Amino acid sequence: MTAHMTTLKVGDQVVDLPVKEGAIGPAVVDIGKLYGQTGMFTYDPGFTSTASCESKITYIDGDEGVLLYRGYPIEQLAEHGDFLETCYLLLYGELPTPTQKSDFDYRVTRHTMVHEQMMRFFQGFRRDAHPMAVMVASVGALSAFYHDSTDISDPYQRMVASMRMIAKMPTLASMAFKYSIGQPFVYPKNDLDYTSNFLRMCFAVPCEEYKVNPVLSRALDRIFILHADHEQNASTSTVRLAGSSGANPFACIAAGIACLWGPAHGGANEAALQMLQEIGSVDNIPKYIAKAKDKNDPFRLMGFGHRVYKNYDPRAKIMQKTCHEVLNELGIKDDPLLDVAVELERIALSDSYFIEKKLYPNIDFYSGITLKAMGFPTDMFTVLFALARTVGWIAQWKEMIEDPSQRIGRPRQLYTGEPARDYVPMAQRR
Ligand code: SDX
Repeated sequence: MTAHMTTLKVGDQVVDLPVKEGAIGPAVVDIGKLYGQTGMFTYDPGFTSTASCESKITYIDGDEGVLLYRGYPIEQLAEHGDFLETCYLLLYGELPTPTQKSDFDYRVTRHTMVHEQMMRFFQGFRRDAHPMAVMVASVGALSAFYHDSTDISDPYQRMVASMRMIAKMPTLASMAFKYSIGQPFVYPKNDLDYTSNFLRMCFAVPCEEYKVNPVLSRALDRIFILHADHEQNASTSTVRLAGSSGANPFACIAAGIACLWGPAHGGANEAALQMLQEIGSVDNIPKYIAKAKDKNDPFRLMGFGHRVYKNYDPRAKIMQKTCHEVLNELGIKDDPLLDVAVELERIALSDSYFIEKKLYPNIDFYSGITLKAMGFPTDMFTVLFALARTVGWIAQWKEMIEDPSQRIGRPRQLYTGEPARDYVPMAQRR
């Protein structure tokens, strides 16, 4: 809603632009008519000052370290609820009643199997393929199996596709893991909760019964809550842009998984653990802090820094607490990687370089240590991030599709290439 007008002076032209206020957070200057009135574009590579859409789903205050899902603080949701409750909240905007929650759990649980021919699809991959490559491919392939839920103009089909993706991501993720270690796939069991089901599909073997550790299941469920959504991050923006062309939801989520894979984004949890392993011991930390500060060295502290959080990432605090909980439950008293992480954080947070640039640990800093202790290999960390973020991508995609002002996303550019010039026949080229 337009709060008031502001003016922009462009050369000798003064342009009136509407200012829109949100419920909380920064207002926006609506520049939709700027090009038509001035013949000029705005320029903001990386979108540091650009709001791409209006949304009611997630709010971040980077300066205060606040993260709200539909207005509820992440700390309270992680403490009191489970992941499927957060999924319901993100999708429908309100916490579920007991009846709504049991109905939602029932519907998700009964969509966890994948088409049996997906097994043959997996046989085409090399065993040593990165599980994220397998996830990009297999989630995209869901649109080759579920034609009855790809018509995005049909609300019923949108709902079915949404439930299928939330339900099937754990199954596909566990299949990617099992395939990479040469173990048989494990079918989901309907008498287990969402995260216990996933742990069993990952770690059960046909030779013996698998007993889910409730402490680990609760910890991983909380980790999923922390990763569920995060406003207009790179992968969510990818899903929205892909969806704006009318592409089917499975293809849009596959695009989101591809973007999340990058080490600057969701791939940072894998990169952060590799960095801690490379540092190896507390004695080596000063050398790596110096590398991170060296402008000529591309090295960065993975799991540190954030485009929005210029304070501690609230998820990182909960992640750190969960890490200690998991290590205690597993009887891991002194994990050298944790010692390096805690000391690295202590040193970095007292170093003027990191203080001035407002670089704090983000969600990826402690997640790797936790997931490794739970038995996941490093290359599965971003798969778990994608599993949890699927509900956020779906909720944002759904909001975009249902937004009456939605149009195909089509940014412009500042062209700095060659002006028009004539073709030179081959015989005249030197
Ligand atoms: C996620 O967007 C989201 O919401 C993402 C996410 C989500 O839930 O979806 O929160 C998940 O992706 C978390 C971030 C995971 N990435 C990493 O941990 C990788 C390491 N971090 C950086 O690459 C970086 O901090 C980013 C990518 C996270 C943010 O990059 P920006 O906002 O573009 O910041 P920048 O690269 O411009 O850095 C600002 C300054 C630079 O120095 P100057 O050029 O100003 O001198 O800070 C420095 C950078 O060199 N800097 C770092 C650093 N991160 C930034 N220096 C050392 N180590 C780092 N980690």
